Amino acid sequence: MTGAPEARIQRLAGNGALPDWVSRLDRTAFGSAWKAPAAHEALWVLPEVAFARWACIPAAAEAELLRIAVDPAHRGQGLGRLLLEACQRDLAAEGLVHLFLEVRPSNAGAVRLYEACGWEPCGRRLRYYTDGEDAALYQRREAV
Ligand SMILES: CC(C)(COP(=O)(O)OP(=O)(O)OC[C@H]1O[C@@H](n2cnc3c(N)ncnc32)[C@H](O)[C@@H]1OP(=O)(O)O)[C@@H](O)C(=O)NCCC(=O)NCCS
Repeated sequence: MTGAPEARIQRLAGNGALPDWVSRLDRTAFGSAWKAPAAHEALWVLPEVAFARWACIPAAAEAELLRIAVDPAHRGQGLGRLLLEACQRDLAAEGLVHLFLEVRPSNAGAVRLYEACGWEPCGRRLRYYTDGEDAALYQRREAV
C-alpha cells in the first residue's frame, strides 16, 4: 500500500460495479459476497484493503453499518478505525447523524473497534444469528 491511507479512502459511486477485491474480501471476512449496493446503500473503500457498507435512510437522518472488513494481512494497524471514522464524518456531513449497527458479542475485535469509535450498546436481539448467538445493537449519535 502506497500513500497515506486516510488520503486513499473514497466513497464508491452508487450503481457502480463492485470491484472484485471487495467481493473477495467479503467472502474472506463473512463467507459470502453481497451484490453491488442497492440505491439506498453506500460503500466506502480503502482500495484493495478495506470496505464499509451502509444502508442510508436520509428522511430519518439514519444510517446502518451493514458490513465492515479489513484484509486479514492489514488488521490491527488502525485501518478499520480510520475507515469507520471517515464514514462517520461523511455521513454526518450529509445529515445522517443517527448511526446503528448489530454485532456478535463474541466478535471482540469489532466490538472494540466500535467502542473506540464512540458507539454505545443500545439493545440486544435474542438468538438473532442462525447458531443461536444474540446480536448486540449499538448506536452512535453525532453532536448536531
Ligand atoms: C473488525 C475489523 C474490521 C477491525 O479492523 P482493524 O483494522 O483490525 O481494527 P483497528 O486496527 O482499526 O483497531 C480498532 C480498535 O479495535 C481494537 N481491535 C482490533 N482488532 C481487535 C481484536 N481482534 N481484538 C481486540 N481488539 C481489537 C484495536 O486495538 C483498536 O482499539 P484501540 O483504538 O482502542 O487501540 C477487522 O478485524 C475485520 O475485518 N474483521 C472481520 C470482519 C468483521 O468481523 N467485521 C465486523 C462485523 S460487520
